[in-house]
Amino acid sequence: MRSERPFRLGILGSGTGSNFVAIAEACAAGRLPAEVALVLSDVEQAGILDRARERHLPALYLAPGKFRTKLDEEAEHAYLGALQEARVDLVVLAGFMRILKGAFLKAFENRVVNIHPSLLPAFPGMASWQQALDHGVKVTGCTVHFVDQGVDSGPIIGQRTVPVLESDTPETLHRRIHQAEHELYPQCLAAIARGQVRVEGRLVRLSPGWQP
Ligand code: GAR
Repeated sequence: MRSERPFRLGILGSGTGSNFVAIAEACAAGRLPAEVALVLSDVEQAGILDRARERHLPALYLAPGKFRTKLDEEAEHAYLGALQEARVDLVVLAGFMRILKGAFLKAFENRVVNIHPSLLPAFPGMASWQQALDHGVKVTGCTVHFVDQGVDSGPIIGQRTVPVLESDTPETLHRRIHQAEHELYPQCLAAIARGQVRVEGRLVRLSPGWQP
């Protein structure tokens, strides 16, 4: 039986933190039945830490260690410790630009989610909006998914489409994808917090009537 305590989110980000802001605002407005327990960043000057501190939420820079694209063992330990100490129910990657693996995913099995700026499985990796323009697709979007051992490859929870316009530049397309992300992410997190999302192997099962 789940206790009555609020569902607690631990948010990891490396950038400006606009998705974090959308999530925090959804919590404050009661659209997302959860609270932000902790914000962590691998970038000391990241905007996400400022946005969290402005809201008087616990926010920490934790050094990522010696690698460029992932946390080293010591850093992984520090991130895990901070999240566990904050009694986080779900780890929410909001523009966190490092790959999480092994021990981290084991400790939070099926409890790490990510948002990616494309309709996965199309355009994983970096600058997905540029990849969309390079391929000439007419529709792209964003995806919220559980994180597995691969890169942008875990079970998909929700997606939102964004049309690609003739006049789009990388900046205008990225901006519209960002706006879609700000709607989609809080909705998916709310469904998880309400227990409406279940992982079955590679697939996510959603409660009847819930469709992000
Ligand atoms: C978002 O567009 C998110 O989809 C992307 O980083 C941006 C963070 O923006 N994440 C990835 O590309 C992960 N592979 P924000 O800091 O303003 O939320």
